[in-house]
Amino acid sequence: MADSLNCHLESLSPLELFERVTEQGEKVRALKAGKAPKDEIDAAVRMLLSLKLSYKTTTGQDYQAGLPPKDLVLMNNGTSKEEEEDFVDPWNVQTSNAKGVDYDKLIVRFGSSKIDTDLINRIERATGQKPHRFLRRGIFFSHRDMDQILDAYENKKSFYLYTGRGPSSQAMHIGHLIQFIFAKWLQEVFDVPLIIQLTDDEKYLWKDLTTEKAYEYAKENAKDLIACGFDINKTFIFSDLDYLGTSTGFYKNIVKVQKHVTFNQVKGIFGFTDSDCIGKISFPAIQAAPSFSSSFPQIFNGKENIQCLIPCGIDQDPYFRMTRDVAPRIGLPKPALLHSVFFPALQGAQTKMSASDPNSSIFLTDTPKQIKTKINKHAFSGGRDTIEEHRKYGGNCDVDVSFMYLTFFLEDDDRLEQLKQAYTSGELLTGELKKVLIETLQPFVAAHQERRKQITDEMVKQFMTPRKLAFDF
Ligand code: TRP
Repeated sequence: MADSLNCHLESLSPLELFERVTEQGEKVRALKAGKAPKDEIDAAVRMLLSLKLSYKTTTGQDYQAGLPPKDLVLMNNGTSKEEEEDFVDPWNVQTSNAKGVDYDKLIVRFGSSKIDTDLINRIERATGQKPHRFLRRGIFFSHRDMDQILDAYENKKSFYLYTGRGPSSQAMHIGHLIQFIFAKWLQEVFDVPLIIQLTDDEKYLWKDLTTEKAYEYAKENAKDLIACGFDINKTFIFSDLDYLGTSTGFYKNIVKVQKHVTFNQVKGIFGFTDSDCIGKISFPAIQAAPSFSSSFPQIFNGKENIQCLIPCGIDQDPYFRMTRDVAPRIGLPKPALLHSVFFPALQGAQTKMSASDPNSSIFLTDTPKQIKTKINKHAFSGGRDTIEEHRKYGGNCDVDVSFMYLTFFLEDDDRLEQLKQAYTSGELLTGELKKVLIETLQPFVAAHQERRKQITDEMVKQFMTPRKLAFDF
């Protein structure tokens, strides 16, 4: 009996095992409380011990009540035992380090893989293109199963890209574009479909917004995304509030995910509590569903096994750890992921960037003058207090926000390296470094505004119409 039990348990994921141990623990407690016969209690306890053992063998960790397996957990709000650890979840990012979050540690904690030189070289060989600066500079730094995507691609098997945005306001800043700039590059070099989810439902649930307003923001934000230059024949953008009710495939995937994730699991992964509304509790299934090609029958000709690759900020990983855990149990492929670092606020990498604070970043609507003033006034400097000291000791690029922004937006590697050396040696002053950033961002933002102006409501409607794309599946 124990053997067959263990054999069965081996096929369970860490999260399922965690669930089983928790349930069994509850059962034992109930039996004891109900003064059940001794042999019944003993049998239940033996089962509990056996489950705990399987849990330990599978995860390498001791079972702890209320603490789901480590690679699925984000430090739970308030229960963090390691004070110095960074805190990362879809809604909060906290670190006490001026350099920002320790990404190597995050890779270990999340159980993802580092995007190393080998992988970057492989992407270069597969696509025949110079790797994007976000890859060259470690801005996309972590992945799950990217090698599988490349294996398949080299064998002429296609895949699709999925990413998204929560339209919480009209105000988008340059940091919001990172994943879309990268998605555009991936779409071009691999020549694959791209699907963009606008989670207006999420923003309605989390913020003080009407559904109408959230939908309006979705359409406004879509213009900023389209202005990144996506090919209309290869890109589908949708609003949850709009598309979900009309698709014949999407809702089926939502309920499949919902059936396989318990309240305990989402509590563990997302920190939900008993008093969160059920809309929030079930939302993760809605962000999971686009990872499966059968959610878009019009694009994939009803095929359900087309692999998905998701470029996103590392803060979105909890959704996709859950998705990857569920996928094999509903007979669908796990999505692969490419994770980016956080975009720092002007005030420094450990402060929170907020769309409601116009000084915390450069917005896509800023004028050249606003850009200049904001950078000069607010960009946290790694320079020294006086010119004499700066010349003598040099500046610190690791904490200097102007330098960090340049790593995101300055294309020329040699120039970036020169700036780094000159700043570190003290030859280049903070004001001079800021000037380079201002001269990089002013034309970038102006060009974005110019392209956005050309985007009509009619074009938005076309991008958002469910349809076949320029690919045969
Ligand atoms: N939840 C994300 C946000 O608030 C939006 C989103 C939906 C997303 N699906 C995604 C982000 C897929 C990255 C990848 O911004």
